[in-house]
Amino acid sequence: MALIGVFDSGVGGLSILDEALRQLPEHDFIYLADSAHAPYGERSGAWIASRSLALCTYLASQGCDAIVVACNTATAEAIAQIRIELDTIPIVGVEPGIKPAVMQSQNGVLGVLATEATLNSDKFNALLHAISPNCTVIKQAGAGLVPLIEAGKANTDETLALLAKHLEPIQKAGADTLVLGCTHYPFLNKAIHQILGESITLIDTSEAVVRQLKRQLNNPEKKVQTVKAGSIIFLSSKDEKTLLKMAKELMRSDLNAHAIDAKLLRDLE
Ligand code: DGL
Repeated sequence: MALIGVFDSGVGGLSILDEALRQLPEHDFIYLADSAHAPYGERSGAWIASRSLALCTYLASQGCDAIVVACNTATAEAIAQIRIELDTIPIVGVEPGIKPAVMQSQNGVLGVLATEATLNSDKFNALLHAISPNCTVIKQAGAGLVPLIEAGKANTDETLALLAKHLEPIQKAGADTLVLGCTHYPFLNKAIHQILGESITLIDTSEAVVRQLKRQLNNPEKKVQTVKAGSIIFLSSKDEKTLLKMAKELMRSDLNAHAIDAKLLRDLE
């Protein structure tokens, strides 16, 4: 079985880990949340690149056979460098699902909710450039949302009000499809539907990301019911008990089926 590292600035990557446990339950995982430094989305590209590389190097030193950079912001700013430095293991990234959104939209009006750093990155703008000129794309930075989710306030009136403000331009433009360009945002699905209605199509790439991981691991299809579940270590740079508590609250997977542990990640320097 492989040991897979999943890294995010905080709890957002739990949405990817959740899907990974669904598709690859037999593997062992280390989930690394850099919550002491979240949000990444309002930091400089150089800071995000060097911190992400340091954390992925740490995961590789722990014996990971593959790493998922479960953060759109870190993928945009750092994945090229991480792949150069850690060239012996697969590094899988996450990026806003612009292509599936173009394919699913009926009216060609798309919203993209992501962090400021992702929206400003060259990688994201190259992605946008490649899509049909007939589509209208409304880009919106979700400033302030990640700290609320990190504080366990995803389902509060405060979050709903901030989200409604951010979604207003997207709603006004009549978007029928919304790309969730930050791994924290799937935890706002309910609130988004409350604001934009049930008919909006939400694009979350976690399933495709894990399929890609599976291909990279060269994992033959297995009957999920018969495999023994692997272990999960939850590592936080801020507070491991809170990370574990939030994982239990936010994830749909049955964590009791896995051997779980939670540890504090001491400063790498
Ligand atoms: N979860 C992250 C992403 O997918 C980063 C959020 C942040 O730390 O600003 O972009």
